Amino acid sequence: MDPRRILLAISGGIAAYKAPELLRALRKAGHDVRCALTPEAERFVSPLVLQSLSGRSVRRNLFDAGEEGEIDHIGLADWAELVLVAPATANLLAKMAHGLADDLVSTVLLATRAPVLVAPAMNVNMWSHPATATNAAILRSRGVSFVGPDAGELACGWEGLGRMSEPARIAEAVAACLTSKSLAGERVLVTAGGTAEAIDSVRTITNRSSGKMGFAIAAEAARRGAEVVLVAGISTQPTPFGVRRIDVGSALAMREAVLAEFEAAGIVIKAAAVADFRPAAPADRKLKKEDLPESGRLTLELVQNPDILAEICLRKGDRIVVGFAAESHDVVGAAQRKLARKGCDLIVANDISRRDAGFEVDQNAVVFVWPDQQVEELPLLDKSGVAAQLLDRVEKLRTRR
Ligand code: PMT
Repeated sequence: MDPRRILLAISGGIAAYKAPELLRALRKAGHDVRCALTPEAERFVSPLVLQSLSGRSVRRNLFDAGEEGEIDHIGLADWAELVLVAPATANLLAKMAHGLADDLVSTVLLATRAPVLVAPAMNVNMWSHPATATNAAILRSRGVSFVGPDAGELACGWEGLGRMSEPARIAEAVAACLTSKSLAGERVLVTAGGTAEAIDSVRTITNRSSGKMGFAIAAEAARRGAEVVLVAGISTQPTPFGVRRIDVGSALAMREAVLAEFEAAGIVIKAAAVADFRPAAPADRKLKKEDLPESGRLTLELVQNPDILAEICLRKGDRIVVGFAAESHDVVGAAQRKLARKGCDLIVANDISRRDAGFEVDQNAVVFVWPDQQVEELPLLDKSGVAAQLLDRVEKLRTRR
């Protein structure tokens, strides 16, 4: 993502202590960040820390000659390409909803024409109070975006909705706000992760897919404004911001979930590593050593799983369907044969014999294989970079649809 100018507005709640971590995440993503604090926020976070991390002086006062000299409050409101309010207290949400401008932060929020993203943090009863609910609804209706609040243990001792989302999650939401919504109105179905095929009630046959590749695609599609459904096999990856996730275990369960979501989808991207075979007769209890025959050998009979990609390609209509191919040799040749056999619009081939790409790692080196035999080889990229390149190609296909 291109570096952008972000104003981080911090209001006075305990969650303000997470602001430096959030600021670091935004700086790491390359953004230029200025901080503005309400008078109460200073009680929870040190302006000096924010100044050191942002490399910019911190704004606190509306009518301070020194502060206004560097950049006045209207200049600050105009400078921002995004205003992020984190944490956003119930008081600040109320001021925003009703147009109050009695300190620097609320004044800048009234003056800015930049998109605004808020990360609320407060006591569960304050969040669920009809006054706050109405204020949040007013702000949403004006196009203000929300990330969180999340449920959990609150600093006040209560449990429930009210925790500020984690800084990494807020940084994801920032990226989503800043990305052009080129896939708005599109429903994208992505599969990710490996499947697990039961041998008995505790053991499975699975593979090394972490889900990182498919999750990166789902995250990028959501950033581009698509409605994204992620059918996830075995994966410990966190659900990307704005994505609806359906967890499945086996290939059969993945098939069921994909077929249920397929009709409503315009784009389908199948990055999951689906097991081609499953044990024919999984035991419904844990197999014990005593169950083994005298030979000490256990023979597993495997049956073939349905090929989900081939099945959906048979009735794809004008949908765009992208498959992946995990190959260890003759990568392009094998992917071309796979594409011809399955009938998708594009195959993303990756060489899984490489240690720096493919399964588990954060990067991938892929080749786009097209039906007309053309191939496009990409350099080693972060999986988010591969996802962006892939969706650029998918968007081109979409314009031809
Ligand atoms: O998850 P990561 O750790 O980030 O790793 C990423 C990845 C290597 C798993 C990913 O980049 C990848 O290559 N995914 C596809 C893995 C795979 O199963 O490839 P395949 O060549 O066996 O299958 C070809 C295509 O058919 C795939 O789109 C697959 O989802 C689909 N398929 C396969 C078998 C089956 N029974 N049903 C299917 O739909």
